[in-house]
Amino acid sequence: MFQRMQQKWGISGTQFWVIFIAFGLTGTTTAIITRYITHWIGFTQETFLLWKILVRIAILIFGYQFILLGFGAILGQWNFFWKYEKKLLQKLGIMKSEIAKNGQKITKMAIFASGQGSNAANIIDFFKNRSDVKVVLIVCNKPGAGVLSVAEKNQIPTLLIEKDRFSKGDAYLPELKTAGVDFVVLAGFLWKVPPTLIAGYPNQIINIHPALLPKYGGKGMYGGKVHEAVIAAGEKESGITIHFVNEHYDEGASIFQAKCLIEPTDTAENLAFKIHELEYAHFPKQIDALLAALPK
Ligand code: GAR
Repeated sequence: MFQRMQQKWGISGTQFWVIFIAFGLTGTTTAIITRYITHWIGFTQETFLLWKILVRIAILIFGYQFILLGFGAILGQWNFFWKYEKKLLQKLGIMKSEIAKNGQKITKMAIFASGQGSNAANIIDFFKNRSDVKVVLIVCNKPGAGVLSVAEKNQIPTLLIEKDRFSKGDAYLPELKTAGVDFVVLAGFLWKVPPTLIAGYPNQIINIHPALLPKYGGKGMYGGKVHEAVIAAGEKESGITIHFVNEHYDEGASIFQAKCLIEPTDTAENLAFKIHELEYAHFPKQIDALLAALPK
């Protein structure tokens, strides 16, 4: 029976006994504290039984849980007991569940953006009523960027990143993992993604590019610059490319492309408008399809 519990909780033998001791100590401590509290309140043999029961239940529900966390932390098992408490709080409806209505784990997404954030806003809007997908973090490298206001309006936490740590350090992987991020979407993010981040999210980072790659991609090709180059070259069509991210700018495997026609009178500005319309129509749906295919 002990072995089965060990397997179910995913813990080692030693950890099992430490946890067992924490439960034991909590039970004994709660019993002693309950006796002191009931004595302090002035309970006697004559006190109304229901009143006694209600107070004991209250101490058990709240006090016990706090004491358990305390002993858990002292014995080096904070993670185990916090997970245990979270489950309980979620069952009681006090804490938001990590499980979607369909019974599956909620997929958490981070959006990296450094511009006005209209794609980020559109993606947030697309998933806002979904119980199985959540945008949990907006990552941005530009203080004051419009996307930060989008995050604030939607009450999504933001992470302002700095070049050296992102490119040469841990790529903020600890923050992403702590936020429980499963999938990364680049929507107007212009820094090269470092190998550390790619290794942390294999095939789980995608980008949108405002042209039909492999044409008009690479370093320095972003936003308006892409459209100016496309118009200057006299192209008859342009479009969007959604692709996986690898160590090279705009070179990861293509997932989806959509095209639009360029009229002779089109300027870089109205091409940008057409491209944004394509992005709004397709990007969230493509993300949704990729998330559905993620291992659960
Ligand atoms: C989008 O058009 C996106 O395709 C482009 O930046 C724009 C961001 O707009 N990305 C690149 O150029 C990447 N090379 P937004 O901030 O309004 O979403």
